[in-house]
Amino acid sequence: SEPLRAVSRSDVMTDSPVNNVPENIFGKIGTDLHLKPNHPLCIIKSAIYDYFEKNYPGTFKTFDDRKPVVTLNANFDSILIPEDHISRSSNDTFYVDNVTCLRCHTSAHQAELLREGQAAFLCTGDVYRRDTIDSTHYPVFHQMEGLRVFESHEWSGQDGTDFCLSDLKKVLEGLAKHLFGDVQMRWVEAYFPFTDPSLELEIFFRDEWLEVLGSGVVQQEILQKNYTASGDVRGWAFGLGLERLAMVLFQIPDIRLFWTADTRFLKQFKQGDLTTRFKPYSKFPPVFKDVAFWTSSAYTENNLCEIVRTVAGDLVEETKLIDDFTHPKTGRTSHCYRIAYRSPDRSMTDEEINQLQDEVRSSLQEKLEVQLR
Ligand code: PHE
Repeated sequence: SEPLRAVSRSDVMTDSPVNNVPENIFGKIGTDLHLKPNHPLCIIKSAIYDYFEKNYPGTFKTFDDRKPVVTLNANFDSILIPEDHISRSSNDTFYVDNVTCLRCHTSAHQAELLREGQAAFLCTGDVYRRDTIDSTHYPVFHQMEGLRVFESHEWSGQDGTDFCLSDLKKVLEGLAKHLFGDVQMRWVEAYFPFTDPSLELEIFFRDEWLEVLGSGVVQQEILQKNYTASGDVRGWAFGLGLERLAMVLFQIPDIRLFWTADTRFLKQFKQGDLTTRFKPYSKFPPVFKDVAFWTSSAYTENNLCEIVRTVAGDLVEETKLIDDFTHPKTGRTSHCYRIAYRSPDRSMTDEEINQLQDEVRSSLQEKLEVQLR
């Protein structure tokens, strides 16, 4: 009941809370949108599984029921995420207790699946991140992890890492074509602690360069510690966000729509059909409300967004910092946020919105100890 309280914990991070998972987030666990036939996330997931099965029959084993509550070891340590990495902070990650969190990526299952002897797999599930609020960010989303291990006889004569990298590119370029048609693509250098080299794939789709996935050659240490093989091995891995792909492909304008029960949304999609283009049915205008306050030590933008989300749920579309000002004499900082209220599927009354805004204000004051202006 005190979700933002921090306790001292020298073994992992000094600011890791015992539990910072709000009820509304906890309540999403088990919804498993990626397992619901005819849901756009399940359609995308299945299209990717189909691509791998068609081109590499029997090679990739699929896992889509691994639970999202994982150990910190699985989520971070086992894939070499350093102790001081930003993603470990309680501002970014939902901690369940001292040793468990809600996975922030499906990479949390790399090491365990390797230990189970899986040499090629696809693993899909819901992932959780504390973040700001806008049309493409939601604290729960879905990812797919792919990983393949090769043994030395498979790259005989070549350099193992080069072989792995060119296989990775071939496989993922083929996947992008399978989903998006004959698009232009480019590989961009990236950084992930668990791969080296690391690359992101971008596609040119409807006049824009879009990042599709992160990938790379698996760090040797991860394979050596977890995968039992008689000789030398190399591996590649990738991770992609299903919402992002579905939004682009189906032209879904708002990430909250994935969570709606409205049949005007759900009825538009059909398992196996990648050609659907979403037709918006609700064009209610957003209502903007501003809140300004002097910041406090408990204030972070993610904490603020969580409070807004806890009060207004899916009735909030965006929270945007519109003014940031430091008083020249006192040194105090004032922030002003503009909150956009809009339901994805109905109109809202002024009264309802004013009530939400009042609740947001008092909750900010109470939970973050900011001073309202
Ligand atoms: N886990 C990474 C992310 O969430 C994606 C990734 C997976 C990158 C596997 C490389 C290899 O951003």
